[in-house]
Amino acid sequence: HVIPDHRPSKHRLLVVANRLPVSAVRKGDASWQLEVSVGGLVSALLGITEFETRWIGWAGVNVPDEIGQKSLTEALAKKRCVPVFLEDNIVHLYYNGYCNNILWPLFHYLGIPQEDWLATICNFQSQFDAYKKANQKFADVVKENYQEGDVVWCHDYHLMFLPKCLKEKNPNMKVGWFLHTPFPSSEIHRIMPSRSELLTAVLAADLIGFHTYDYARHFVSACTRILGLEGTPVGVEDQGRLTRVAAFPIGIDSDRFVRAVQLPRVKNHIKEFEERFGSRKVMLGVDRLDMIKGIPQKLLAFEKFLEENPNWRDKVVLLQIAVPTRTDVPEYQKLTCQVHEIVGRINGRFGTLTSVPIHHLDRSLDFHALCALYAMTDVALVTSLRDGMNLVSYEFVACQASKKGVLILSEFAGAAQSLGAGALLVNPWNVTEVASSIAYALNMPSDEREKRHHHNYMHVTTHTSQEWAGTFVSELNDTVVEAQLRTKQ
Ligand code: G6P
Repeated sequence: HVIPDHRPSKHRLLVVANRLPVSAVRKGDASWQLEVSVGGLVSALLGITEFETRWIGWAGVNVPDEIGQKSLTEALAKKRCVPVFLEDNIVHLYYNGYCNNILWPLFHYLGIPQEDWLATICNFQSQFDAYKKANQKFADVVKENYQEGDVVWCHDYHLMFLPKCLKEKNPNMKVGWFLHTPFPSSEIHRIMPSRSELLTAVLAADLIGFHTYDYARHFVSACTRILGLEGTPVGVEDQGRLTRVAAFPIGIDSDRFVRAVQLPRVKNHIKEFEERFGSRKVMLGVDRLDMIKGIPQKLLAFEKFLEENPNWRDKVVLLQIAVPTRTDVPEYQKLTCQVHEIVGRINGRFGTLTSVPIHHLDRSLDFHALCALYAMTDVALVTSLRDGMNLVSYEFVACQASKKGVLILSEFAGAAQSLGAGALLVNPWNVTEVASSIAYALNMPSDEREKRHHHNYMHVTTHTSQEWAGTFVSELNDTVVEAQLRTKQ
């Protein structure tokens, strides 16, 4: 006989993000090829065992027909994912427009894109309307899938309206919102025509999280200065209702990287790369090809280093992996051309018949090749102009147990607050400073390298993504309990 299990079933965690961790390619009317990507957020959520996780996000493809929508929904359900279908014109205005041409550059202190600022301002209202419409669609799908007791965790700048839409539907829903980018100074946020609406919408959440204390402080200041609300040590208060605001710095699934470096497959890659680059020191950059990553600035600093240190010219190589992203947004297209031009110039200036100083790739690498590159690198260069956290710096450190290479890290990345003592911190706009940090890193004595690496390695392996997600979700639970208690009193 089977003994019936009377334990209450687990509560569910509904994770809502613009992208699903699965990409879908249509193979026929009703057939789909799905590829699961194990990103930071996915592995973080694997560590949450007290909840069953469901993922809700944009399907990433245009599926106008019912047959396609139905079959994709069924295929994704097997991966515990639920698609949100957005029409092409909404995607254009919401994703390319409001998210990535307005919020993204502003939140990273890059302002309104200069060349098409007129068009940006003229299109602002239609993009903002599409943004709200898209957020409403996400809310509808959450509502269809919501069961009493579920906890809803919304992610990132794409979904700032979602907490409001969800609470309007159901004030008792437990809603958290987490921003993966910086939240800028209130002076920047004020530029936005929709500044108040955005803040009010996010404040509908029960718990709001940021990667660093500074971002949380900026958010609270924006609420006090722009909305005239009261900032308290734990959040923002509006007519007796408290929204908790706190810093929850994300980490990585460090075990996955530490273990990968031991795999025969990765060791073979390392051997291959070592043979390929011989005695040359290897410097590495791994970035999405995005303005915030400071790739042109990094290249200019490397050029200056080669200019000033002729003895290093044929002894060092910079590998720059630049993963294409948001390729429909004009600013990103311009950046690609600019980067190619600079790489061409530097290779033309300093290359020889047998080697070039920069290997630039416009594509991503598979996980094992990437770990091998991290492991055999002497100096990693993370020179973001701004970055919410930057987990490439964490991944590099996790793979360096044997080499103990140097991390050059932008002071404007959130990671500078956790890896600052082990890394060489730089201002990416100061190419002279970055160039001399490169020289310093390449000449660093081994005892200093070991000490610096040890500091970072201890941090990266103890502050994991699983711990990050666990802390946020349990605080979100507690926050709601607290709110209910207050109501009862
Ligand atoms: C950043 C954002 C994420 C986003 C990722 C990739 O890390 O914070 O929300 O998913 O970039 O960008 P994409 O536009 O390709 O989703």
